[in-house]
Parts: sequence; C-alpha cells; structure tokens
Amino acid sequence: MTAAENGHTAVVAALLEAGAPWNQQDKSGYCAGEYATASKKHEIVEMIMEWGVQAELLLGAASRTNEEASTSGTAGSSAANAGYLQQKLVYTPDGDKLLDADGEAVMMGWEAPLMEKHAAAICRGGGGHYLNVGFGLGIVDNEIQRYSPASHTIIEAHPDVYAHMCKLGWDSRPGVRVLFGRWQEVLPQLESYDGIFFDTYGEYYEEMREFHQQLPRLLRPGGVYSYFNGLASDNFFFHSVYGRLVQVELATQQLQVRFEQLRVAELGDEVWQGVRNKYWHFPLYFLPVVTHAAAAGGDAQESEQQQQQQQGQQQDGKQQ
Ligand SMILES: C[S@@+](CC[C@H](N)C(=O)[O-])C[C@H]1O[C@@H](n2cnc3c(N)ncnc32)[C@H](O)[C@@H]1O
Repeated sequence: MTAAENGHTAVVAALLEAGAPWNQQDKSGYCAGEYATASKKHEIVEMIMEWGVQAELLLGAASRTNEEASTSGTAGSSAANAGYLQQKLVYTPDGDKLLDADGEAVMMGWEAPLMEKHAAAICRGGGGHYLNVGFGLGIVDNEIQRYSPASHTIIEAHPDVYAHMCKLGWDSRPGVRVLFGRWQEVLPQLESYDGIFFDTYGEYYEEMREFHQQLPRLLRPGGVYSYFNGLASDNFFFHSVYGRLVQVELATQQLQVRFEQLRVAELGDEVWQGVRNKYWHFPLYFLPVVTHAAAAGGDAQESEQQQQQQQGQQQDGKQQ
C-alpha cells in the first residue's frame, strides 16, 4: 500500500507478481488501489485495476469449472438466493422500503431517480417490448409503463413480492406479463426484447454473469440492456474493477457497455432509519448502458477512447 501510494510502480508490479492480493485491505478498510487513486498515481491505479479484472476473470472460470465438476447440487451462490426466497418480507407502511427478515433493505425509495434513468435508458423512444427482472417496490416497472410498452414482462421470484404485485393488480394489467419464479427457471418462457433491466437481490456476480450469457439471445438488435450497478458498493475501487470486468466479459459476446455518470442525492441518516445496513456510500452512480457492439456505432478507436475516459472518471469518482 505504501508502494502504491508513493508511486513505486516497479515495486507494486513485483508485489503483485509475487502473489500479493490486489484486493487486500488494511485496518482502515483501504486497499492499495485506493491509496494510489488518492495520490493520483494513475499508472499504478491502472495496473492494480487490470490485475483485479484478470484475477476475477480467472476466479470466474475456476468456479465454473468446479460447478461443472460438482455433482453435489446447489452451488453456494444459488443457495443464498434460495435462503432469501424463503424469508418473510416486509413492505413498510409508507411504501418506501422492502425489507427482508433481518431488516436488510431489498429495495428503497431513494433509488427512484436512478430507476427513472434506467427505464429511460432501456425504453428510449417507447412503444417497445420490455423485460424487467425483479419487481421489488415496482419503481422501475411504473416508469416502464410510462413508455407505452408494446409488451412488458416482469419476472419475480419471491412469493411475498408476487402477492404484493397481485394485490396491486399487476397480474391483470393489459400488456403486462408477470412470470412468477426465479429468472433461471423461467428463461425458456422468454422471448427477445428491445429493453431489458436486471435488478435482483440475494444473488452474486456469478448469477449476473449467467444472466449476461443469455443476452445475445434476449436482446434484440438495437436494444438496450441495463442493470442496477450495486456491485461491490462498499468500496469504490472494487466497484470500479467490477465495472470494467462487466465491460470485458460482455465484449466477448459482442456487447458494448458504457456508463452514464449520475449524481446521487445526499443520503442522510434518516434515509437509513429502520434499515440494518447502509448499502450505498458513493456520491456518484454509474448507470450501465449495454448495446450490441454492431449497433453502438463509431469506430473501435473512438469507443475505446470513450471507455478509457469513463474509467478515468470512475477512478476519480470517489473524490468528487
Ligand atoms: C432490488 S429489488 C428490485 C427493485 C426494482 N428494480 C424496483 O424498481 O423497485 C430485487 C427484486 O428481485 C427479486 N428477485 C431476487 N432473486 C430473484 C431471481 N432469482 N429471479 C427473479 N427475481 C428475483 C426480489 O424478490 C426483489 O423483488
């Protein structure tokens, strides 16, 4: 961390090569990438970030190999989702929060401005076929409805959320199709869409990656995909590594990711009252806009420059 903070590039490279974990945190919870970011050692930030992406790619490949080799059934990550789906959920009376049995926030009203932008990103001119995975408070679905969808499919896995949706009449809304079940289970019932949004709970990056593997089939040419970008939302450097990881992984499927930078309103203590853990800490939100690379337009060099610029903003984001 000292080497990263003081710009000793060769030392940082040697430490990484020797097996020092790129994501090691000190007693205060800071990692080498954060020290390098704070002291504007951009070459080192880039080196650690790239190392992190490559490490996570290898880890992902290794866990897929283990799962393929395993005959013991449910993998750890899907077991976590199964545990969540059995919990009793609570909608707060003001309709502002959906909490799980431990008081963890499944969804909160402060995200409404973000959901509005997500809906705008995937619906664009409106009138298309849209898919949303995860109903929660229904904020994004209410927004999608404003774009006069030709069809609007919602996947929801939790029985309490599904019951809530039915109480609100979503199951009988014209043009709306509600699929009750885990997205993994209802995949065969899906078609292809002009806009797709993914925002589940109790799942890990592995599940999202699995969903991403379906995108070439699910996303129509010219369509837009987006997801709630809460990956590693307690550490800005790790969050940035995940942003780049998604870009690298989706590029292998000829999908291009750009991030729209949004400012998040100040979230005072009153916002988190009654919630066990504060899950958002950053002043900025990087809204992913994913398109088929062929539809993204512009030459490859231009898009690479754009990505580098966005990554630079991500590197500096926490200081703004
Ligand atoms: C964060 S909330 C979604 C919030 C929503 N975007 C909104 O605007 O209110 C996550 C939702 O995903 C659902 N969910 C969790 N795992 C799922 C899965 N595997 N398949 C489908 N839905 C799932 C949860 O029950 C919850 O309703």
